Amino acid sequence: MPNAIITGTGGHVPEEVVTNDDLVKRFDIETSNEWIVKRTGIEARRFTPEGLGPADLALPASQQALEAAGIEATDLDMILFATLSPEYAFPGSGCLLMEKLGLPDAGHFPPAMDIRNQCSGFLYGLGTASAMVQSGACKNILLVGAELHSGALDYTTRGRTVATLFGDGAGAVVVSATEEDRGIRGWWLGSDGRYTDVLCQKIWQMRRRPFLPVNEEGWGLVAPEDMYAHMDGRQVFRHAVERMSGALVQACQEQEITTEDIDLFFFHQANLRINQHVAKTVGIPLEKTVNNIQKYGNTTAATIPLLLAEAERDGRLKRGMKVAMVAFGSGFTWGSAIVDW
Ligand code: UT7
Repeated sequence: MPNAIITGTGGHVPEEVVTNDDLVKRFDIETSNEWIVKRTGIEARRFTPEGLGPADLALPASQQALEAAGIEATDLDMILFATLSPEYAFPGSGCLLMEKLGLPDAGHFPPAMDIRNQCSGFLYGLGTASAMVQSGACKNILLVGAELHSGALDYTTRGRTVATLFGDGAGAVVVSATEEDRGIRGWWLGSDGRYTDVLCQKIWQMRRRPFLPVNEEGWGLVAPEDMYAHMDGRQVFRHAVERMSGALVQACQEQEITTEDIDLFFFHQANLRINQHVAKTVGIPLEKTVNNIQKYGNTTAATIPLLLAEAERDGRLKRGMKVAMVAFGSGFTWGSAIVDW
């Protein structure tokens, strides 16, 4: 059975930097830089210009990952696209990305699959990619996490609990087969559907007839509480610390290692305080954790691949290191992975 390794990473964020003060000045939100930094660690996030979608953010990240892996897009056997902010209700953003990569023109039509596991989407994708490679079904898989939050957040005081946290961005990795004794050693995923209402966006509801309320002319009318994401932040925070700590301990136990054997930890970037609590709970020195939430906010499925790409580029993540990845998000869903880089 081949091993599955990450052979290339890439990351891309849109140019526009929006600081916490910008949120106050531009949208008149009753918040402050002090509040946001103290409670979350976030100093800024990126906004995408109108007209572009998550597949556009994913394209440069994917091209970087392919180049780093030393393969062409036509070598891909599969595309996995993790996002909670796809261009459309359907079809999935993976199909848009395969077209942007020029694959139809090249006569190459690999499967493109979207993954809807929110902040855990990248790790759900990594588990899927790893299994597909190890089974022999695929040799090279492009796994992307890309989000465009700035188009769908409530930038008013009513929406501040959610809107101040999220930002746009994309990260990508290529997962390939190898006979070398390294790569993705294991992955662990979980979910708890008792908490679906705690963090959700119910813009359409198929249980309703019709699925959106409509006016007399048949136009859809969506109330703000359905239109925008809803979150009970305190509950999410508590469960995130518990589940991320548990997922990390489980990963180490199943690999018969301790956290001391791990060189770098890539935690999902939802709140710097969550990551500090997890590090304290499990006993990890903060110097071994990699964070970029300060610059980008929470980019959901993109956080971990963006972190990997940046850490590789700045030389912090090096061949031969043992790394752990952990995420938690809406669903609730969570996951962890141990990789020999
Ligand atoms: O990727 C997974 C998704 N998300 C997360 O993991 C987020 C997890 N949760 C959190 O990070 C934190 O719970 C938040 C940062 C969202 C909130 O921090 P908190 O310390 O739990 O605050 P809170 O929700 O309990 O709110 C405290 C107060 C409230 O005012 P009152 O009711 O005490 O008057 C909020 O209305 O802070 C208010 N508040 C804000 N004030 C200024 C909430 N958001 C803001 C804001 N600026 N952006």
